Amino acid sequence: MTDKSASWSYAEGLAAEDTVVARARERSLELGVAPVSPGVGAVLTVLAATSKAQAVVEVGTGAGVSGVCLLRGLPGRSTFTTIDTDVEHLKAARQAFTEAGVPSSRVRTIPGRAHAVLPRLNDSSYDLVFIDADKAGTLVYADEAVRLLRPGGLLVINDALDHDGVTNPVHREPAAVRLRALHRRMLEDERLATALVPTGEGLLLSSRR
Ligand SMILES: C[S@@+](CC[C@H](N)C(=O)[O-])C[C@H]1O[C@@H](n2cnc3c(N)ncnc32)[C@H](O)[C@@H]1O
Repeated sequence: MTDKSASWSYAEGLAAEDTVVARARERSLELGVAPVSPGVGAVLTVLAATSKAQAVVEVGTGAGVSGVCLLRGLPGRSTFTTIDTDVEHLKAARQAFTEAGVPSSRVRTIPGRAHAVLPRLNDSSYDLVFIDADKAGTLVYADEAVRLLRPGGLLVINDALDHDGVTNPVHREPAAVRLRALHRRMLEDERLATALVPTGEGLLLSSRR
């Protein structure tokens, strides 16, 4: 297998971002939040557009970089629910959504821990779920997401390669062990068709059958 890092950098560099996303990235840095990479943002826009999702849930709003990318791909009447523990992050994200021209009626920002908020959302009511919050919670959030998705819906999990931490089997750090368990769980789940895409720090994509 050849080293793919040059192709990876090329793909990340190809993703063009405008001033709205650039400002959201600046606010992310100020708040100490790690936003999705430009390549991941571009993939999210394409997935949102092709899914034609009417209802979307995001776990881990940050300052709204991923949210703006998703909203840019979604149909105009879709609704976007985004969850974060930090109200300052939600405030920054709302600013980004306003700057992106998204009516506030389409966006529901929910403050709280995803562990507590996700169980309150209805079964089989969402077309796309994006997970990018605390990494220790991802496995639980993924289980909840499968419950939330309608047949044909899409689950997208960010940071699925943990900065290459999972690639070496001798690495036994908790994050790598958790992610390998997540990969196995999603690939073995017969309700899902799953692929791991090495964009950004890795995107795990699962389609609900
Ligand atoms: C990596 S950042 C999200 C970045 C965002 N997706 C973007 O691209 O702009 C992770 C976010 O998850 C939030 N978070 C951390 N633990 C959480 C939890 N248990 N429930 C909900 N949100 C959480 C943090 O406050 C932070 O804003």
